[in-house]
Amino acid sequence: MAGFSIRQLSMVYGGAEPTETLADVNLDIEDGEFLCILGPSGCGKSTLLEILAGLQQPTAGEVRFGPDALIGPDRRLGVVFQDPSLYPWRTIQRNVELGLEIGETGKRERSEAAQRYLKMVGLAGFERKYPHQLSGGMRQRAGLARAFANRPEVLLMDEPFGAVDHLTRLQLQDDLLAIWEADRKTVVFVTHDVSEAVYLGDRVVLLSPRPGRIQEVFAVPQRRPRKREDAELLKIQQDIYLAIQQVRAPDSVEFAI
Ligand SMILES: Nc1ncnc2c1ncn2[C@@H]1O[C@H](COP(=O)(O)OP(=O)(O)O)[C@@H](O)[C@H]1O
Ligand SMILES: [Mg+2]
Repeated sequence: MAGFSIRQLSMVYGGAEPTETLADVNLDIEDGEFLCILGPSGCGKSTLLEILAGLQQPTAGEVRFGPDALIGPDRRLGVVFQDPSLYPWRTIQRNVELGLEIGETGKRERSEAAQRYLKMVGLAGFERKYPHQLSGGMRQRAGLARAFANRPEVLLMDEPFGAVDHLTRLQLQDDLLAIWEADRKTVVFVTHDVSEAVYLGDRVVLLSPRPGRIQEVFAVPQRRPRKREDAELLKIQQDIYLAIQQVRAPDSVEFAI
């Protein structure tokens, strides 16, 4: 099963001035769960996600993916960063096919999969365009299609909608939920936006300022589709703001409201 168990994880970046980035993180992420990780800039969210992706080794502690210790990158883990990093010389279609070229998928199957996922993210008709011909929101959609086309068991997303305008962002959240509802992959979604975390997640893990520790875990039991103005959701948002204020250092104002 495709969940994670994180035990006594800590991370210190070396160098002239060692940076303690994560401290004693313990967390179980359930198979099929949509988990949001929320925290101020620099608290170690990206570091935690990179560790879950097998792209970084923690200084101490252990991460299990299913029954196995996670020791490095794994095809079952799909990663989406803020910058979709599409290859400018490839069409959108060929960018989405990219991950499948490494595997054993045949040419025709690759092409069909790319078209299917492009359609799913609302990019049907744009297959032959190049990245520079698309808006930022559309490029991010193409990045999502590429991640989904690889059919990972888990999606690890690092502020994937951080670079698009607000209304597009709301639309992308709904698109992501629609795709997630269809096959309920485990999603770990990093954000510093409280409302985004509460709208999307089954649970919201709040990290403290660096070194990131788990400050509090908020359950969001509301059924989907959710209403953004739902009083219960807004109440949870308020609880999170209160928790943030309790530990906020005077010089850190990094949360989006
Ligand atoms: N490769 C690295 N080497 C050294 N320090 C790093 C590295 N990556 C991140 N850091 C430091 O670790 C801290 C947390 O970074 P990051 O995980 O990117 O936080 P977040 O994603 O929450 O903004 C920051 O102080 C950052 O400067
Ligand atoms: Mg980050």
